[in-house]
Amino acid sequence: MASGTKIGLDIGYSSIKVVVLSHKDKVPRLLSLGHIAAPQPGIVSEADLDLDAVSKSISTLIDEVKPPTRDVVVGLPESRIFTRVVYDLPFLSDDELGQAIRYAAEEFVPMPIKDVNLYYQVLFRSPKKDAKSRTVVFVVAAPKLLIAKYLKVLTQADLRPVAIETELIAASRSLVSFSTYSPTTLIIQLGASTTDFAIVSEGLILLTRSIATGGIALTRIIAQSFNFELVQAEEYKKVYGLLEDQLEGKLYRTLKPIVDVIVTEAKRMIQAHETQNKQRLIKRVVLSGGGAQLPGLVRYFTDNLGLEVQEADPWLGITIDPNLKNKLAVEGPHYAVSAGLALREE
Ligand SMILES: Nc1ncnc2c1ncn2[C@@H]1O[C@H](COP(=O)(O)OP(=O)(O)OP(=O)(O)O)[C@@H](O)[C@H]1O
Ligand SMILES: [Mg+2]
Repeated sequence: MASGTKIGLDIGYSSIKVVVLSHKDKVPRLLSLGHIAAPQPGIVSEADLDLDAVSKSISTLIDEVKPPTRDVVVGLPESRIFTRVVYDLPFLSDDELGQAIRYAAEEFVPMPIKDVNLYYQVLFRSPKKDAKSRTVVFVVAAPKLLIAKYLKVLTQADLRPVAIETELIAASRSLVSFSTYSPTTLIIQLGASTTDFAIVSEGLILLTRSIATGGIALTRIIAQSFNFELVQAEEYKKVYGLLEDQLEGKLYRTLKPIVDVIVTEAKRMIQAHETQNKQRLIKRVVLSGGGAQLPGLVRYFTDNLGLEVQEADPWLGITIDPNLKNKLAVEGPHYAVSAGLALREE
């Protein structure tokens, strides 16, 4: 039996991605991986017919990838959940904490607390109880209806959900080490419909955000400006991207205002974090998601943020076949979330 093997499943707006890892050895080993175009409108729909189509696509992909298990860890889209680091709690026992988190959640969850599932992770707890001691907690609130929808889609695809977590928690697991030497990092996950941000320090998420500007917005603006079909606009985006010396800088100038929306948000995140955490200044930016591969993007972010910027490499803590190394390095940013999900141990 393939116990200790996990499928990480990332159901994106444009594509569904799967990574299968064995946890038998000390270092997790890649067994297989793959992706498939997502049906439209896909997982964002509430209609049974659309969700059936998602289950079918997942089944097709799973048949191709042939995992020796049905155990799946799935990611929830950042744009549909609510997360917050709650700083202002005193020293609390586990029981008291549950109650305090419900109160705290009322401040940032824009729906009745009875309709969400609350998860939390203690980031810091003073060693003993006194007037100055405090507890800092990372809280995730996921709508119960959203979870029910995901569970239904998975069950229909004949998979067994063993855990469910946010896409940024998954990406932070595959991209940032838990080591105290690991620099505080801003992850920017550039998807098709959204761009998500997370500030991660020592493997723990300190701040997250999601904006509705992603790869589709870039393709659309090219299509509009050049009067192209979307397919052609997508091609141009992937080939010329933000390279200023191509096409007399026309594409660069077209894409710049949209990319600047993402840069501005990144700057805001960095500033918000650094006012709260003066000892944990951000040293590195990691770009993941399909949009990370936009030609010229690493350079553009480096110039505009004044920080070290890299493309995501989710394979650092995973054993992979040497013959696959080069191919997988290129596809790394694409699989950051699915690899992080499959890396989850319990
Ligand atoms: N080489 C490339 N250059 C620029 N953009 C690219 C490249 N390859 C893929 N993309 C873009 O990446 C996006 C898809 O990325 P990804 O698979 O991470 O999104 P998704 O998970 O389906 O979407 P979401 O996370 O928003 O639900 C598309 O908008 C696509 O155009
Ligand atoms: Mg995605």
